[in-house]
Amino acid sequence: MASCSSPRHATRDLSPTLTIIFATETGNAQDYAGRVAHHCRRAHFRCRVFDVDKYPLSEIVSESVVVYVVSTSGTGKEPRTMTPMWRGLLRSDLPYDFFEDLHYAIFGLGDSSYEKFCWPAKKLGRRLERLGATAICPRAEGDVQHTFGTDGAFDPWVSSLMDALLRLFPLPPHLLSSQVEELPTPRVTLLSATSEEIWDTPDPLLGDDRYRLFELVRNERITADDWYQDVRHFEFRCQDDIVYDPGDVAVVHPEASPMDVDTFLTTLGWSNAADDPIRIQHIFEDQSLPDHLPQVSTLRILFSRHLDISAVPKRSFFRLLKHFATDEREREKLEEFSSPEGAVKRFTPSRRSSTHFGQGELYEYTARVRRTILEVLSEFRSVRVPREHIFELFPPLRPREFSIASASLAHPHEVHLCVAVVDYKTKLRARRRGVCTSFLASLPIGAQLRIGITRGLLALPQDSSTPVVCIGPGTGVAPARAVLEARVHLGMKDNTLYFGHRASGKDEHYSREWTTLAEAGNLTYRVAASRDGPEGTPRVYVQDLIKQDTKRIWRLVHDSGAWVYISGSSNKMPAGVRAALVDIAREEGELEEEEARAYVARLEREERLFEECWS
Ligand SMILES: Cc1cc2nc3c(=O)[nH]c(=O)nc-3n(C[C@H](O)[C@H](O)[C@H](O)COP(=O)(O)OP(=O)(O)OC[C@H]3O[C@@H](n4cnc5c(N)ncnc54)[C@H](O)[C@@H]3O)c2cc1C
Ligand SMILES: NC(=O)c1ccc[n+]([C@@H]2O[C@H](COP(=O)([O-])OP(=O)(O)OC[C@H]3O[C@@H](n4cnc5c(N)ncnc54)[C@H](OP(=O)(O)O)[C@@H]3O)[C@@H](O)[C@H]2O)c1
Ligand SMILES: Cc1cc2nc3c(=O)[nH]c(=O)nc-3n(C[C@H](O)[C@H](O)[C@H](O)COP(=O)(O)O)c2cc1C
Repeated sequence: MASCSSPRHATRDLSPTLTIIFATETGNAQDYAGRVAHHCRRAHFRCRVFDVDKYPLSEIVSESVVVYVVSTSGTGKEPRTMTPMWRGLLRSDLPYDFFEDLHYAIFGLGDSSYEKFCWPAKKLGRRLERLGATAICPRAEGDVQHTFGTDGAFDPWVSSLMDALLRLFPLPPHLLSSQVEELPTPRVTLLSATSEEIWDTPDPLLGDDRYRLFELVRNERITADDWYQDVRHFEFRCQDDIVYDPGDVAVVHPEASPMDVDTFLTTLGWSNAADDPIRIQHIFEDQSLPDHLPQVSTLRILFSRHLDISAVPKRSFFRLLKHFATDEREREKLEEFSSPEGAVKRFTPSRRSSTHFGQGELYEYTARVRRTILEVLSEFRSVRVPREHIFELFPPLRPREFSIASASLAHPHEVHLCVAVVDYKTKLRARRRGVCTSFLASLPIGAQLRIGITRGLLALPQDSSTPVVCIGPGTGVAPARAVLEARVHLGMKDNTLYFGHRASGKDEHYSREWTTLAEAGNLTYRVAASRDGPEGTPRVYVQDLIKQDTKRIWRLVHDSGAWVYISGSSNKMPAGVRAALVDIAREEGELEEEEARAYVARLEREERLFEECWS
């Protein structure tokens, strides 16, 4: 993801090169950084795009404009790649005027359903101001909960950024009339290659030392056969010595369904050339290509492993696609979707809504019904995409992360995963299967897969007398299983698990393991079956059990200094569990509401309360 500058339009001689730095966990911030660069280039600025961990912090004092695009990770933390930079900025010996010559702008990405919405972006802004830097436009925060997703805040923010930049560095007269074409020049050239070159091209994951080759040795459904949800236990074995810690995360690169890829290639008229070897020559290196892209490939491989045809398309997709439609009416429709007005809310009277707010057309067409790129293309039949433009048009197919569900102490050479296979119906009753979870579920025993292992957010207490309390409903039990296996292996017995599932006998993951551990005195196992009660009764969740156990929890957390782990996929679950902890601190610690909240926040600050949650 490193990048460098490479001017491609007529550029200004006297204006500075803009530096765009992104910090991402799952790639959105990188996409937005690319979009900022696109806008800047259209105004004839030179720019460089950097992943934050590839940018040498020492260079920042010589920058004049830096644009940060920063996403938010678990419990309001910065993405892991940003931590060294953030620590560098927090150094107490930095003078208050350290950045007095620096102009900056920040776009944050987050999800307002989390308590600490866009905290890294907010904190970064505050720190830069304190060190004397000047904001050139107000910070904006893209919210995935917004009707138009993060685009809702991005579009107005990028306009204000461009206005500010053009005020600071007006266009020189000789460039005023030179309009940069909206259709970007492709960042690659595709040349023909031979089959031998494909065979000779090593798997790019080979060169990344986070990845190891694993063999699948178990792929077992652990929910009842008659239960609607397919949750799998996977075991992967590795020849190499691998050591990982509880809470660490496995990174899996999925392959799209071969049927979808076939349909896609046919739709775009590429069937005949789908397996022709092509060499990818990266021309404009200031625009990134997907990570781990091989230099020689085929269209079929590219759309199976590297470019995403199942994503819900963003507005920028339509903005580009309109150039490739040959039918006038289709082009008009695409124009509508790609213009801010097309995406902006329309005021259409609604009988059901007292606000009279209708939905934006683009939102209605894509996000609300989760229409995929593949489906959009099958409706705009006149579209003919020049092959060179694939890296502008299609988003990278992102690897997916899974909390490792085993401890390497207990299972040397193995990595276990607990995976809920995504399979649901959209509002249009179309079936949707998750790209990565379906891929994993389809793997036969013996399949070979390169899996990466990265650091997670959890840590274990060193002192063996410290109790732990794991709260992990659903697949949130994965990191809890890793913690508990490691603890039991080390002979630490003071362990508690709050597990939540839906129905007894149907989806109580690893129940036999928990009861065995409990019988051996290694675990207190508490289980909430949310839907076991009679129809009409409130659902029982992990936080309800925690509240039933008020005295025990207070004794563990307050008196014995227990470490608490919250993990799982439900957005509202972590907040529910925290609220229960606040209630307990209020009742048992006789604290006021604010004091009780501060008490729980302190647990987190002191790294005794951990959260590893995903949506
Ligand atoms: C740190 C971390 C740890 C994780 N650990 C685990 C784990 O241990 N086990 C696990 O199973 N997952 C885990 N995940 C989630 C995992 O990375 C994937 O996001 C998830 O498995 C889905 O991947 P997919 O490619 O199959 O689905 P995708 O093709 O990416 O589709 C998922 C999308 O479909 C939509 N969707 C899913 N279900 C529904 C529904 N019912 N209704 C409407 N829309 C829906 C959502 O928008 C969701 O974003 C973890 C994520 C992170 C970040
Ligand atoms: N974007 C989405 O639509 C979305 C979000 C999250 C999960 N999912 C789906 O869920 C699957 C993974 O989920 P999972 O198996 O890990 O289980 P889960 O959906 O997280 O559910 C596990 C348990 O948590 C309960 N729960 C729901 N809301 C809760 C809350 N506020 N507080 C505490 N507990 C709560 C559930 O109860 P009830 O269900 O009975 O209320 C269930 O008993 C994925 O395949 C995905 O398809 C979808
Ligand atoms: C595990 C996880 C934790 C998150 N925690 C927060 C959070 O605490 N606050 C917030 O505002 N957004 C949070 N988000 C939302 C992300 O910031 C948001 O999805 C963003 O678009 C991700 O961008 P990225 O792909 O560049 O990492 C979280 C997302 C995930 C998957």
